[in-house]
Amino acid sequence: MPTVMITGANRGIGLEFVRQYAAGGWKVLATCRNPFGLGDLARVEGDIEIHGLDVTDPYSITRLAKDLEGVAIDILLNSAGIFGPKGYTFDDVDYHEWMKVFETNVFSPLKICTAFLPNVLKSEQKKMITVSSIMGSIGRNTGGGNYIYKSSKAALNQVMKCLTNDLTDQHIAICVVHPGWVQTDMGGESADITAEVSVAGMLRVVEDLTFESTGRFYNYDGSELPW
Ligand SMILES: NC(=O)c1ccc[n+]([C@@H]2O[C@H](COP(=O)([O-])OP(=O)(O)OC[C@H]3O[C@@H](n4cnc5c(N)ncnc54)[C@H](OP(=O)(O)O)[C@@H]3O)[C@@H](O)[C@H]2O)c1
Repeated sequence: MPTVMITGANRGIGLEFVRQYAAGGWKVLATCRNPFGLGDLARVEGDIEIHGLDVTDPYSITRLAKDLEGVAIDILLNSAGIFGPKGYTFDDVDYHEWMKVFETNVFSPLKICTAFLPNVLKSEQKKMITVSSIMGSIGRNTGGGNYIYKSSKAALNQVMKCLTNDLTDQHIAICVVHPGWVQTDMGGESADITAEVSVAGMLRVVEDLTFESTGRFYNYDGSELPW
């Protein structure tokens, strides 16, 4: 069976990715920053290996890349992300927190894709997927506020578009996906959809992704979103 590696796999959307890929018979490399004292992730059944990975820690990335040297990864799935501060105004932005959000949401996905590129190249499917957000769409932006999170996802989208272009010769299919507004710790209880519905949709998007449809921004329902 093919192999998927998932970041931020201990809760929220990442955990649901683990559940659904494992249920589909995939080998799952589930990564999270605290692999000890796991709750829900430890209870998921299937062919699952749990690995420690703090996506903002270069040493942690290098160590896992070394541990997984030679292992083929069909789908590299960046789900880990943070929202950062809420409820501030444009004249009261915390620039230190802004940098932390960029480290997690923008720098880390590129570092992960770079570190595990040899693993993806060894695989059959050769796909790199990153969970973005409609809040990063400039084309869809009709309101102010949330400068930190919105700009991080807009930058992430640009980074993944550049990576798509850079990896064209290596035939890697790349996309960013908006998961919908999802009931997780980040999305809150009143969000539109469950993680189950969101991830079921994104699994179809990932499955349908080909080298011909690479480098796009998709909604979880398969429709294309404006950058
Ligand atoms: N929920 C929504 O409505 C929504 C909408 C649009 C986009 N998204 C995006 O979807 C993705 C998943 O969000 P979610 O709703 O599942 O959020 P969540 O419930 O808050 O979970 C976030 C996950 O990211 C992990 N994480 C954060 N920083 C990390 C780091 N430095 N190293 C490793 N893991 C780290 C967390 O691990 P810890 O438990 O260790 O903190 C947790 O597993 C994010 O990229 C988010 O921006 C979510």
